Amino acid sequence: MRTPLIVANWKMNFSNEEGLKFITTFQKNFHPSKTVEVVICPPFTLLYYLSVAMSESEGLPLGAQNCHWEKAGAYTGEISPWFLKETCRYVLLGHSERRHIFGETDDQIQKKMRGAVMADLIPILCVGETQNERDQQKTAKVLEGQLTEGLKSISPQTPIVLAYEPVWAIGTGRNATPAQAQEVHAQLRAWLLSHSFSTETRILYGGSVKPDNAGALMAQPDIDGLLVGGASLEVDSFLKIVNY
Ligand code: PGA
Repeated sequence: MRTPLIVANWKMNFSNEEGLKFITTFQKNFHPSKTVEVVICPPFTLLYYLSVAMSESEGLPLGAQNCHWEKAGAYTGEISPWFLKETCRYVLLGHSERRHIFGETDDQIQKKMRGAVMADLIPILCVGETQNERDQQKTAKVLEGQLTEGLKSISPQTPIVLAYEPVWAIGTGRNATPAQAQEVHAQLRAWLLSHSFSTETRILYGGSVKPDNAGALMAQPDIDGLLVGGASLEVDSFLKIVNY
């Protein structure tokens, strides 16, 4: 049984005060259960603050939005996955904004995957095609390349999460239809199984998830959760998504 996983990606939003306000309101209305796992990925600056504020509540783990691959050293401005492990269970890697705005390569992403796993974090590897690649019918090839490279040094016994995030759907208000997403998720599932990854590996969909499309996306057999950007910044809309 794959427990549904709903992840809030706050990106570069929320001061400490704003983040704490969100969590305080959210926790009043969210009751952790075994039927859905909810993860908050705030900016680095909020991780310690939220981990202290939420120490009473078991059911709301934290994730980071990125990490470096080394344990420590002269890497100005970078964050070690071993430091993150003190507050986080998960880390997002290979997000399209990292790939396309900051020029992260598949090679860097696979090193980060390895570092995260060695630090005992669960990486959420994001993959997705651009509009141009989709128009040229290259979706399957692009995703296969990102999977092959990203998981190059990861043993199939390792717990990981995948997130399919079509670049053309992120922050655009234009989500993939449930059928479009399901088609790709089934291909990703087949790839994972053919490379001996567990049937329990969860595959999330991300890209303009909103309260009104969350249910239909989650009804697809190969969509095991959602990675939510914009709609995770308002307590009401995120609660509706969590209660899809
Ligand atoms: P969005 O972002 O929900 O605002 O489209 C999703 C993401 O980038 O993870």
